[in-house]
Amino acid sequence: MSNSQFFSNCTADTIRKAAAALRDGHLVAFPTETVYGLGADARNPEAVKRIYEVKGRPSDHPLIVHISSTNQLDKWAKEIPEYAINLARAFWPGPMTLILKRTEITQDFITGGQETVGLRVPSDPIALALIQEFESISDSAIAAPSANRFGQVSPTSSADVQEELGEYLSSFDLVLDGGNSVIGIESTIIDCTGANPAILRSGFITKEDIESKLGIACVGQVNEPSIRFSGSFKKHYAPRCRVTFYEYPIDGAGFLALNVIETPPGMVRLASPATVEEYARLLYSTFRAADHRNLNILAVIPPEGEGLVAAINEKIEKASLGR
Ligand code: TXA
Ligand code: MG
Repeated sequence: MSNSQFFSNCTADTIRKAAAALRDGHLVAFPTETVYGLGADARNPEAVKRIYEVKGRPSDHPLIVHISSTNQLDKWAKEIPEYAINLARAFWPGPMTLILKRTEITQDFITGGQETVGLRVPSDPIALALIQEFESISDSAIAAPSANRFGQVSPTSSADVQEELGEYLSSFDLVLDGGNSVIGIESTIIDCTGANPAILRSGFITKEDIESKLGIACVGQVNEPSIRFSGSFKKHYAPRCRVTFYEYPIDGAGFLALNVIETPPGMVRLASPATVEEYARLLYSTFRAADHRNLNILAVIPPEGEGLVAAINEKIEKASLGR
Protein backbone atom coordinates (compact mmCIF):
# COMPACT_ATOMS: atom_id res chain seq x y z
CA MET A 1 0.00 0.00 0.00
CA SER A 2 1.23 3.46 -0.79
CA ASN A 3 1.07 6.49 1.51
CA SER A 4 2.64 8.87 -0.98
CA GLN A 5 0.87 11.34 -3.25
CA PHE A 6 0.55 10.10 -6.81
CA PHE A 7 0.40 12.34 -9.89
CA SER A 8 -0.22 11.01 -13.37
CA ASN A 9 -0.92 14.39 -14.91
CA CYS A 10 2.43 16.13 -14.68
CA THR A 11 1.39 19.69 -15.51
CA ALA A 12 3.54 22.72 -14.72
CA ASP A 13 1.63 22.97 -11.46
CA THR A 14 2.49 19.38 -10.52
CA ILE A 15 6.14 20.03 -11.33
CA ARG A 16 6.12 23.11 -9.06
CA LYS A 17 4.55 21.06 -6.25
CA ALA A 18 7.13 18.32 -6.69
CA ALA A 19 10.03 20.81 -6.68
CA ALA A 20 8.62 22.38 -3.51
CA ALA A 21 8.40 18.93 -1.89
CA LEU A 22 12.09 18.38 -2.69
CA ARG A 23 12.97 21.80 -1.26
CA ASP A 24 11.08 20.89 1.93
CA GLY A 25 13.18 17.75 2.32
CA HIS A 26 10.71 15.17 0.96
CA LEU A 27 11.29 12.51 -1.66
CA VAL A 28 9.94 12.56 -5.22
CA ALA A 29 9.99 9.45 -7.39
CA PHE A 30 10.06 10.47 -11.05
CA PRO A 31 10.27 8.90 -14.51
CA THR A 32 13.45 8.98 -16.53
CA GLU A 33 14.08 7.45 -19.96
CA THR A 34 16.17 4.68 -18.33
CA VAL A 35 14.35 3.66 -15.15
CA TYR A 36 12.38 5.52 -12.45
CA GLY A 37 14.45 7.42 -9.88
CA LEU A 38 13.86 8.23 -6.21
CA GLY A 39 14.87 11.88 -5.86
CA ALA A 40 15.97 14.11 -3.01
CA ASP A 41 17.68 17.49 -2.63
CA ALA A 42 21.34 16.67 -3.33
CA ARG A 43 22.49 19.23 -0.72
CA ASN A 44 20.15 18.12 2.10
CA PRO A 45 21.76 15.36 4.22
CA GLU A 46 18.53 14.48 6.03
CA ALA A 47 16.60 14.09 2.77
CA VAL A 48 19.36 11.99 1.23
CA LYS A 49 19.44 9.83 4.35
CA ARG A 50 15.80 9.01 3.73
CA ILE A 51 16.64 7.72 0.25
CA TYR A 52 18.89 5.11 1.88
CA GLU A 53 16.23 4.22 4.44
CA VAL A 54 13.45 3.89 1.88
CA LYS A 55 15.65 1.79 -0.42
CA GLY A 56 17.23 -0.22 2.39
CA ARG A 57 20.57 0.56 0.75
CA PRO A 58 23.96 0.70 2.52
CA SER A 59 24.87 4.35 3.07
CA ASP A 60 28.34 4.14 1.55
CA HIS A 61 26.90 3.60 -1.95
CA PRO A 62 27.21 6.82 -3.95
CA LEU A 63 24.22 8.48 -5.63
CA ILE A 64 23.96 10.05 -9.08
CA VAL A 65 23.26 13.78 -9.09
CA HIS A 66 20.77 14.69 -11.82
CA ILE A 67 21.39 18.12 -13.37
CA SER A 68 19.47 20.02 -16.05
CA SER A 69 22.28 20.71 -18.51
CA THR A 70 25.98 20.54 -19.22
CA ASN A 71 26.15 24.14 -17.94
CA GLN A 72 25.66 22.79 -14.40
CA LEU A 73 28.63 20.42 -14.65
CA ASP A 74 31.29 22.59 -13.05
CA LYS A 75 29.13 23.32 -10.06
CA TRP A 76 29.38 19.66 -8.98
CA ALA A 77 32.58 18.54 -10.71
CA LYS A 78 36.06 19.92 -11.37
CA GLU A 79 39.11 19.12 -13.47
CA ILE A 80 36.76 17.87 -16.17
CA PRO A 81 38.71 16.32 -19.07
CA GLU A 82 37.93 17.46 -22.58
CA TYR A 83 36.67 14.04 -23.61
CA ALA A 84 34.06 14.23 -20.83
CA ILE A 85 32.77 17.54 -22.20
CA ASN A 86 32.60 15.90 -25.62
CA LEU A 87 30.68 12.95 -24.16
CA ALA A 88 28.25 15.36 -22.52
CA ARG A 89 27.76 17.24 -25.80
CA ALA A 90 27.26 14.01 -27.72
CA PHE A 91 24.94 12.09 -25.38
CA TRP A 92 23.18 14.52 -22.97
CA PRO A 93 20.34 14.78 -22.31
CA GLY A 94 20.32 11.01 -22.33
CA PRO A 95 21.06 7.63 -20.70
CA MET A 96 24.65 8.35 -19.63
CA THR A 97 26.25 9.09 -16.24
CA LEU A 98 29.73 10.61 -16.00
CA ILE A 99 31.99 10.02 -13.00
CA LEU A 100 34.14 13.09 -12.35
CA LYS A 101 36.18 14.69 -9.56
CA ARG A 102 33.82 16.39 -7.15
CA THR A 103 33.72 20.02 -5.97
CA GLU A 104 33.07 21.02 -2.33
CA ILE A 105 29.33 21.35 -3.02
CA THR A 106 29.20 17.60 -3.58
CA GLN A 107 29.36 16.24 -0.07
CA ASP A 108 30.27 12.88 1.44
CA PHE A 109 26.63 11.87 1.89
CA ILE A 110 26.28 11.88 -1.93
CA THR A 111 29.58 10.28 -2.87
CA GLY A 112 29.86 7.77 -0.04
CA GLY A 113 33.03 9.61 0.98
CA GLN A 114 34.67 9.16 -2.44
CA GLU A 115 36.36 12.05 -4.23
CA THR A 116 34.25 11.53 -7.35
CA VAL A 117 30.63 12.28 -8.24
CA GLY A 118 28.25 10.71 -10.77
CA LEU A 119 26.36 13.27 -12.89
CA ARG A 120 23.58 12.81 -15.42
CA VAL A 121 21.24 14.94 -17.54
CA PRO A 122 18.22 12.75 -18.29
CA SER A 123 16.16 13.31 -21.43
CA ASP A 124 12.72 12.40 -20.10
CA PRO A 125 10.67 15.63 -20.29
CA ILE A 126 9.14 15.23 -16.81
CA ALA A 127 12.56 14.55 -15.28
CA LEU A 128 14.08 17.55 -17.05
CA ALA A 129 11.22 19.87 -16.09
CA LEU A 130 11.48 18.76 -12.46
CA ILE A 131 15.26 19.24 -12.30
CA GLN A 132 15.02 22.67 -13.98
CA GLU A 133 12.28 23.80 -11.62
CA PHE A 134 14.13 22.50 -8.58
CA GLU A 135 17.42 24.12 -9.63
CA SER A 136 15.60 27.43 -10.05
CA ILE A 137 14.28 27.45 -6.45
CA SER A 138 17.15 25.79 -4.62
CA ASP A 139 20.71 26.26 -5.94
CA SER A 140 20.86 22.45 -5.82
CA ALA A 141 20.06 19.44 -8.00
CA ILE A 142 18.38 16.04 -7.58
CA ALA A 143 20.20 13.05 -6.12
CA ALA A 144 18.45 9.90 -7.29
CA PRO A 145 19.11 6.18 -7.33
CA SER A 146 16.77 3.80 -9.11
CA ALA A 147 13.46 3.69 -7.20
CA ASN A 148 13.65 0.04 -6.09
CA ARG A 149 14.53 -1.68 -2.82
CA PHE A 150 18.23 -2.54 -2.61
CA GLY A 151 19.19 -5.52 -4.80
CA GLN A 152 15.86 -5.69 -6.62
CA VAL A 153 14.96 -5.04 -10.23
CA SER A 154 14.81 -1.36 -11.24
CA PRO A 155 11.31 0.05 -11.83
CA THR A 156 10.25 1.03 -15.34
CA SER A 157 6.77 2.33 -14.48
CA SER A 158 5.12 4.25 -11.64
CA ALA A 159 3.22 1.06 -10.70
CA ASP A 160 6.59 -0.68 -10.23
CA VAL A 161 7.67 2.18 -7.96
CA GLN A 162 4.52 1.81 -5.85
CA GLU A 163 5.11 -1.92 -5.65
CA GLU A 164 8.74 -1.47 -4.57
CA LEU A 165 8.59 1.53 -2.27
CA GLY A 166 4.94 2.41 -1.60
CA GLU A 167 4.92 1.17 1.98
CA TYR A 168 8.15 3.01 2.83
CA LEU A 169 7.17 6.43 1.46
CA SER A 170 5.43 9.09 3.58
CA SER A 171 2.32 11.15 2.83
CA PHE A 172 4.63 14.10 2.00
CA ASP A 173 6.53 12.14 -0.64
CA LEU A 174 5.39 12.17 -4.27
CA VAL A 175 5.36 9.67 -7.11
CA LEU A 176 5.20 11.18 -10.61
CA ASP A 177 3.91 8.97 -13.40
CA GLY A 178 5.34 9.35 -16.89
CA GLY A 179 4.37 6.04 -18.46
CA ASN A 180 6.80 3.25 -19.23
CA SER A 181 10.51 4.08 -19.38
CA VAL A 182 11.46 4.14 -23.06
CA ILE A 183 14.95 2.65 -22.62
CA GLY A 184 14.24 0.34 -19.71
CA ILE A 185 17.76 -0.35 -18.41
CA GLU A 186 19.95 1.93 -16.28
CA SER A 187 22.27 4.58 -17.72
CA THR A 188 25.73 3.75 -19.00
CA ILE A 189 28.21 4.84 -16.30
CA ILE A 190 31.52 6.18 -17.60
CA ASP A 191 34.47 6.86 -15.35
CA CYS A 192 36.07 10.09 -16.59
CA THR A 193 38.83 10.39 -13.99
CA GLY A 194 41.55 8.81 -16.13
CA ALA A 195 43.27 9.64 -19.41
CA ASN A 196 40.57 7.67 -21.27
CA PRO A 197 36.92 6.94 -20.53
CA ALA A 198 36.17 3.61 -18.83
CA ILE A 199 32.71 2.03 -18.83
CA LEU A 200 31.75 0.98 -15.28
CA ARG A 201 28.18 -0.09 -16.06
CA SER A 202 27.03 -0.92 -19.56
CA GLY A 203 23.81 0.54 -20.91
CA PHE A 204 22.11 1.97 -23.98
CA ILE A 205 25.13 4.15 -24.88
CA THR A 206 27.73 1.60 -25.89
CA LYS A 207 31.50 1.46 -26.19
CA GLU A 208 31.01 1.45 -29.98
CA ASP A 209 28.83 4.62 -29.78
CA ILE A 210 31.46 6.38 -27.69
CA GLU A 211 34.43 5.36 -29.79
CA SER A 212 32.79 6.19 -33.11
CA LYS A 213 31.38 9.57 -31.97
CA LEU A 214 34.46 10.72 -30.06
CA GLY A 215 37.29 8.93 -31.83
CA ILE A 216 38.73 8.06 -28.42
CA ALA A 217 39.30 4.54 -27.06
CA CYS A 218 37.45 3.33 -23.97
CA VAL A 219 39.78 1.49 -21.62
CA GLY A 220 38.66 -1.80 -20.18
CA GLN A 221 39.21 -1.46 -16.52
CA VAL A 222 38.26 1.01 -13.85
CA ASN A 223 40.61 4.00 -13.61
CA GLU A 224 40.20 4.36 -9.88
CA PRO A 225 40.68 0.98 -8.17
CA SER A 226 38.85 2.01 -4.98
CA ILE A 227 35.71 3.00 -6.91
CA ARG A 228 32.48 1.53 -5.60
CA PHE A 229 29.38 1.02 -7.65
CA SER A 230 26.52 -1.35 -7.11
CA GLY A 231 26.78 -2.67 -10.66
CA SER A 232 30.01 -4.23 -9.41
CA PHE A 233 28.18 -6.56 -7.07
CA LYS A 234 27.81 -9.98 -8.56
CA LYS A 235 24.25 -10.53 -7.43
CA HIS A 236 21.92 -7.81 -8.52
CA TYR A 237 18.80 -6.94 -10.47
CA ALA A 238 17.34 -10.32 -9.63
CA PRO A 239 13.65 -11.17 -9.55
CA ARG A 240 12.34 -13.72 -7.05
CA CYS A 241 12.07 -16.45 -9.67
CA ARG A 242 15.15 -18.25 -10.98
CA VAL A 243 16.42 -16.75 -14.24
CA THR A 244 18.18 -19.24 -16.52
CA PHE A 245 19.44 -19.30 -20.07
CA TYR A 246 17.07 -21.44 -22.13
CA GLU A 247 18.29 -24.97 -22.86
CA TYR A 248 15.20 -27.16 -23.26
CA PRO A 249 11.44 -26.75 -22.71
CA ILE A 250 10.35 -26.69 -19.05
CA ASP A 251 6.65 -27.11 -18.37
CA GLY A 252 5.10 -24.01 -16.83
CA ALA A 253 8.29 -21.96 -16.87
CA GLY A 254 8.33 -18.39 -18.17
CA PHE A 255 9.92 -17.68 -21.54
CA LEU A 256 11.51 -14.55 -23.02
CA ALA A 257 12.98 -14.34 -26.51
CA LEU A 258 12.83 -12.20 -29.66
CA ASN A 259 9.53 -12.52 -31.51
CA VAL A 260 11.12 -14.52 -34.36
CA ILE A 261 11.70 -17.37 -31.90
CA GLU A 262 8.73 -19.66 -31.28
CA THR A 263 7.54 -20.46 -27.78
CA PRO A 264 8.75 -23.95 -26.78
CA PRO A 265 5.91 -26.36 -25.90
CA GLY A 266 4.49 -25.98 -22.40
CA MET A 267 6.26 -22.70 -21.65
CA VAL A 268 4.64 -19.38 -20.67
CA ARG A 269 5.56 -16.64 -23.13
CA LEU A 270 5.99 -13.37 -21.21
CA ALA A 271 7.23 -11.05 -23.95
CA SER A 272 8.05 -11.07 -27.67
CA PRO A 273 10.27 -8.06 -28.38
CA ALA A 274 10.77 -7.38 -32.09
CA THR A 275 14.08 -5.53 -31.75
CA VAL A 276 17.06 -5.37 -29.43
CA GLU A 277 15.88 -1.96 -28.20
CA GLU A 278 12.48 -3.38 -27.38
CA TYR A 279 14.18 -6.30 -25.66
CA ALA A 280 15.97 -3.86 -23.32
CA ARG A 281 12.75 -1.92 -22.75
CA LEU A 282 10.78 -5.04 -21.76
CA LEU A 283 13.49 -6.91 -19.82
CA TYR A 284 12.77 -5.69 -16.29
CA SER A 285 9.00 -5.68 -16.71
CA THR A 286 9.30 -9.30 -17.87
CA PHE A 287 11.24 -10.16 -14.70
CA ARG A 288 8.42 -8.57 -12.70
CA ALA A 289 5.73 -10.32 -14.74
CA ALA A 290 7.32 -13.70 -13.94
CA ASP A 291 7.09 -12.90 -10.23
CA HIS A 292 3.53 -11.60 -10.51
CA ARG A 293 2.56 -14.94 -12.05
CA ASN A 294 4.43 -16.79 -9.30
CA LEU A 295 6.58 -18.63 -11.80
CA ASN A 296 9.56 -20.52 -10.37
CA ILE A 297 11.70 -20.25 -13.48
CA LEU A 298 12.15 -17.73 -16.26
CA ALA A 299 14.13 -19.12 -19.20
CA VAL A 300 15.63 -16.52 -21.49
CA ILE A 301 17.12 -16.53 -24.97
CA PRO A 302 19.14 -13.32 -25.14
CA PRO A 303 19.60 -11.50 -28.46
CA GLU A 304 22.91 -11.93 -30.27
CA GLY A 305 25.33 -9.25 -31.36
CA GLU A 306 27.26 -6.34 -29.92
CA GLY A 307 26.56 -2.98 -28.35
CA LEU A 308 23.25 -2.89 -26.51
CA VAL A 309 23.14 -6.69 -26.66
CA ALA A 310 26.17 -6.81 -24.34
CA ALA A 311 24.34 -4.67 -21.79
CA ILE A 312 21.23 -6.86 -22.00
CA ASN A 313 23.32 -10.01 -21.56
CA GLU A 314 25.04 -8.52 -18.54
CA LYS A 315 21.69 -7.82 -16.88
CA ILE A 316 20.44 -11.35 -17.60
CA GLU A 317 23.67 -12.90 -16.32
CA LYS A 318 23.44 -10.94 -13.08
CA ALA A 319 19.80 -11.86 -12.66
CA SER A 320 20.68 -15.52 -13.25
CA LEU A 321 22.92 -15.46 -10.16
CA GLY A 322 19.82 -14.89 -8.05
CA ARG A 323 19.20 -12.72 -5.05
O1 TXA B 1 19.70 5.29 -15.22
C1 TXA B 1 20.14 5.56 -14.10
O2 TXA B 1 21.34 5.76 -13.90
C2 TXA B 1 19.14 5.64 -12.95
C3 TXA B 1 18.23 6.84 -13.17
C4 TXA B 1 17.28 7.05 -12.04
O3 TXA B 1 19.01 7.98 -13.41
N1 TXA B 1 19.82 5.72 -11.70
C5 TXA B 1 20.48 4.67 -11.17
O4 TXA B 1 20.99 4.94 -9.89
O5 TXA B 1 20.60 3.63 -11.73
P1 TXA B 1 21.52 3.77 -8.94
O6 TXA B 1 21.93 4.46 -7.67
O7 TXA B 1 20.53 2.72 -8.83
O8 TXA B 1 22.80 3.30 -9.66
C6 TXA B 1 23.83 4.23 -9.85
C7 TXA B 1 25.14 3.58 -9.77
C8 TXA B 1 25.38 2.92 -8.44
O9 TXA B 1 25.86 1.62 -8.70
C9 TXA B 1 26.42 3.79 -7.81
O10 TXA B 1 27.27 3.06 -6.96
C10 TXA B 1 27.13 4.34 -9.03
O11 TXA B 1 26.12 4.58 -9.93
N2 TXA B 1 27.80 5.60 -8.71
C11 TXA B 1 27.25 6.76 -8.34
N3 TXA B 1 28.19 7.65 -8.06
C12 TXA B 1 29.38 7.05 -8.27
C13 TXA B 1 30.73 7.43 -8.14
N4 TXA B 1 31.07 8.64 -7.70
N5 TXA B 1 31.68 6.53 -8.44
C14 TXA B 1 31.35 5.30 -8.88
N6 TXA B 1 30.10 4.86 -9.01
C15 TXA B 1 29.12 5.73 -8.71
MG1 MG C 1 19.89 0.85 -8.83
